[in-house]
Amino acid sequence: MCGIVGYVGPRDCTDVLISALAKLEYRGYDSAGIAVFENGKIEVAKSKGRLSDLVEKMEKEGKPQGHAGIGHTRWATHGEPSDINSHPHSGRRVTIVHNGIIENYKQIKQFLIDNERTEFLSDTDTEVVAQLLDFYYNGDPIRAIRRTLHEVRGSFALGIVFADRPETIYAVRRESPLIVGQGKGEAFIASDVPAILKYTKDYYLLEHNEIVILKNGSASFCTMHGRVIDKELKTADWDEDSAEKGGYPHFMIKEIHEQPTAVKMTVTPRIEDGLPDLSECGITPETLKDINNVFIVACGTAMHAGMVGKYVIEKLARVSVTVDIASEFRYRNPLIGKGDLVIIISQSGETADSKAVLRLVKETEAKTLAIVNVKGSSIAREADMVIYTHAGPEIAVASTKAYMVQLAVMYLFAFELAYAKGRIDEAKCRDLTDQLIKMPAIIEKTVNSVVDDCQYISTKLISTSSLLYIGRGLDYALSMEGSLKLKEISYIHSESYAAGELKHGTISLITEGMPVIAVATQNTLLEKTISNIEEVKARGAMTVVICDEEADIGEEAADYLIRIPKIAEMLMPMVATVPMQLLAYYTSVNKGNDVDRPRNLAKSVTVE
Ligand code: G6P
Repeated sequence: MCGIVGYVGPRDCTDVLISALAKLEYRGYDSAGIAVFENGKIEVAKSKGRLSDLVEKMEKEGKPQGHAGIGHTRWATHGEPSDINSHPHSGRRVTIVHNGIIENYKQIKQFLIDNERTEFLSDTDTEVVAQLLDFYYNGDPIRAIRRTLHEVRGSFALGIVFADRPETIYAVRRESPLIVGQGKGEAFIASDVPAILKYTKDYYLLEHNEIVILKNGSASFCTMHGRVIDKELKTADWDEDSAEKGGYPHFMIKEIHEQPTAVKMTVTPRIEDGLPDLSECGITPETLKDINNVFIVACGTAMHAGMVGKYVIEKLARVSVTVDIASEFRYRNPLIGKGDLVIIISQSGETADSKAVLRLVKETEAKTLAIVNVKGSSIAREADMVIYTHAGPEIAVASTKAYMVQLAVMYLFAFELAYAKGRIDEAKCRDLTDQLIKMPAIIEKTVNSVVDDCQYISTKLISTSSLLYIGRGLDYALSMEGSLKLKEISYIHSESYAAGELKHGTISLITEGMPVIAVATQNTLLEKTISNIEEVKARGAMTVVICDEEADIGEEAADYLIRIPKIAEMLMPMVATVPMQLLAYYTSVNKGNDVDRPRNLAKSVTVE
C-alpha cells in the first residue's frame, strides 16, 4: 500500500525523504515522488517505478534542495502506475501526498468542475483532494483542511504543503495510519515507525481527524477546529537494526531465523507460575467462561493461523469455532451476538476488510479480541481486548514470523480457555504451557536441520507450473499456509487439499512428475495420509512428505522425506511450518524472483 513521509529540519530533506521511503518499501508500491520547499518554492519530483528510478531521474533533472518536504510511494488504485498519477499532486497553491481511498472523489470532482476548477491532470482520487483543499484555501490552512475533511469520505492519511506557508508541513488522517516522529530540532511524519528509526525513536500517534503541523523542527497538534492538543510522546522499542537485513540476503530468510526469538518474546510475558495469563490483555478466566462460540476472522496468512486455532480450540476447549475470511464475513450478515467472541487476527492491524469486520461486530453484543503485531494500529486500538504478538517489524511481504507468533497466541488462548472452562485440568494446562515455552529452541533446531533438504528439494520444484499440498486435520490447516507461501513468492500455481478429498476430483490433475507435498505430522491420521501419498505416487506424482523423525514411514514411501523434531502432536504446526517456509523461500530464490517483494502483492492491504 502507499507510504507517506514528511520532514522538517536541518538535514538535506530529499535525502531524508528517500531514505524514509525506502523503509516503507515493504508496503508494496509502483511509483514514488517528493515535494520539497526550495528557496520558498515547492519543487516536485516523481516517477513511475522503484525509488531508484526516482533517484536516477533526480540525478539527471536536478534534485530538489531544501529542509522541508513530503514524500510518497504509490500503490495504484485509481489510474495506472505512471509518472502523472504518481504523488505528490497539486492544486494551484496546495500539494499533497495521500495514502488510502477517497470514496466520493467523483462527486467532489463534479463539484469542482461545476465551480470552474477543471485543471485535472491525473486519474487519481488524490488530485481531487488537492484541488478541493485549494478551493477552500483562503490563507488559513486549518480552515481549508477542516472544510475538506467535512466533504471527503473514505480512508486517508494526507501530507500537505501550502505554497505560501514555506518550511511547514500539515498532515491529517482518518482510518489510514500516520505517525509523527520527533527528533532533536527535526520532525517527521510517516505511515509506519521503521521509516523514522534512523533519525529518532520518539513518536506520537495521530488520531482520526487530528491535524499535525511540522514547523521549526517540532510538531504541534490541533483538532479540526484549531483547538491545541497535548499528546503523549512514545518511544519505539524497535531499533533500526531490527528493521534491516542483518547480514541475510533477504528479509524473509532473516525473519524465518527470527522466529524463535519472536515466539519467546510473545509467549514468555504471558506465563505466570507455569500457566497462561492473558489478564494484561484484558482476558480473565471470568471473561472466558462466558464465551459460547468463537469466530476467527482475518485475511491471508492471518486467516490460516486462525485455521490452526480452530482445531486446537475445538479440541481442547470444546467451544465451536468458525473461521472466516474478512472480506466474506462482513458481507454475509453473520449470526453473532451475546456470548460470542470474535477474534480478529492481523499482523499490520490496518487491513481494510479485517478493520471493517471489527467495526461491524462492535455494533453487536459480541466481544472482540484483536491479535495484532503493530502497536497502536487501528484494529488494536478499537477492539475490546488485544493480545499483541511481539514479532518486531516484518518486512518481507510473505509473512513468516508473524504467522508463527499468531500460532503461539492461538495456543496460549486455547490453553487458557480450556482451563477456564474446566475442559482440561491444571496439570494438563501446565504440561501444554511448558511445551509451548520450549518451542523457541525446537524451532531453531528445526530451521538448522531442514535447511539443506529444503534447499535441495526446491531445485526439483522450480520447473513445475503447478503443485499440490495435502494434509488431514491440523496438517490440512497447515498446508493451506504452506501452499500460499509457495505460490505468492515462487509464482508456481499451488493448491492445498484435504487429503481425503483428492479422490473427488483433484486427483485427475496428477500427471507424471507433478509435485505433491504431503504434510503428515498427525500420527492418528498417518496411515490414511500414507494411502493418499501412494495413490498420487501411483499416478506419477513426485512426492515430498513432511513428517516427524519417528514417523513410521519408509524411505521408499516418497521421493523426498523431510523429517522434523517430534513433539506433542497438537504443537506440530509450529515445527512443520518451518520446512514449508524454507521450500517456498528457496524455490523463489532459485527462480530468481524478488523474494521480499513479490509482484502485485502488498504487505499491508489498507484498501478493500
Ligand atoms: C496481505 C499480506 C499477507 C497478510 C494479509 C493480511 O495479503 O501480503 O502476508 O497475511 O495481507 O494482513 P494482516 O496485516 O491483516 O495480517
